[in-house]
Amino acid sequence: MLSTETRLTTVGKDIEKAAAILRNGGLVSIPTETVYGLAANALDPEAVARIFEAKRRPTFDPLIIHIADTFSITDYARDIPLTAPLLMKEFWPGPLTLVLPKTEKVPDIVTSGLSTVALRMPAHKITQDLLKILNFPLAAPSANLFGKVSPTRPEHVIEQLSGKVDYVLDGGDSSVGLESTILGWKEEIPTIYRLGGITIEQIEEVIGPVEKQTHSSSNPVAPGMLTSHYAPGVRLIIGDPPDPLPGIGVLRFCEKLIDFPEDRQWLLSGEGDINEAAKNLFFMLRELDKLNLKEVYIELVPEEGLGMAINDRLRRASAENTQNN
Ligand code: TXA
Ligand code: MG
Repeated sequence: MLSTETRLTTVGKDIEKAAAILRNGGLVSIPTETVYGLAANALDPEAVARIFEAKRRPTFDPLIIHIADTFSITDYARDIPLTAPLLMKEFWPGPLTLVLPKTEKVPDIVTSGLSTVALRMPAHKITQDLLKILNFPLAAPSANLFGKVSPTRPEHVIEQLSGKVDYVLDGGDSSVGLESTILGWKEEIPTIYRLGGITIEQIEEVIGPVEKQTHSSSNPVAPGMLTSHYAPGVRLIIGDPPDPLPGIGVLRFCEKLIDFPEDRQWLLSGEGDINEAAKNLFFMLRELDKLNLKEVYIELVPEEGLGMAINDRLRRASAENTQNN
């Protein structure tokens, strides 16, 4: 008999099958526009516990609940600030997560015992269809092992979680490629906890100035805030490369260096398109990991709009190797 550890995970587009597994307390990896999630019935504490186990995620790191429509927000959140519906109207479905005071309905395991819950309505059609046929919302972190790079394709999920997730629902490549922006209210002041697919500029256009509290501390509000996170295996260093010794690679935004071997340089977007760069980022970090390079020197992208979220990931991915970045 096969144990859970050795069972192989299948990938497919069968929404009914995904729904049946979820109704039975199983785990399904779901496509979203940001990254792939590792989903379970958010209202079933035992199913949610399986997420933490599969990801080897510490239980002090709370999960995002994914909902099918904006009205169901009042089932899970209360004391909703007046600016929240403005953001929902503008950015839902889409890559924005709102942190709000939770209702009794939300199990403590989902929020790691916090009195707040993170909620988001994803924009991917397949996952929307799935949410619509379920009578519960889905708790889902990114479908990677804790601290590793988030998956933007079904095969990335398989690489790290095969045998630990019951089914991967194939929705193709994630179109945004970075996780959702997380925003909460601290003493009524809108505060960004994680930079992501919706930019600060976009948010401020709708609700005015927001605070930013995305930097790491020993006790982060969002563990996506830990300094070393999104870590690939390869050693990443922010800055210009030294002499082009063997085993040294370069990852840049849109222009290759002229005095460095061309075949050891990679570009996030040859066109200089920041959306394309975001979409390629995690995929490229994974590919670089496979090349057995000794070190990869990375260039930050322009620090504005989505570029801020990209640089945030690059800084965290290189945190152990780069000083003062
Ligand atoms: O784009 C995304 O947000 C993806 C897709 C799958 O939806 N999900 C994702 O989940 O990135 P995860 O678990 O990898 O990151 C969620 C972050 C964590 O850093 C967690 O600490 C934070 O959300 N979080 C969850 N609940 C929170 C809460 N009540 N207060 C503050 N932060 C919270
Ligand atoms: Mg994650």
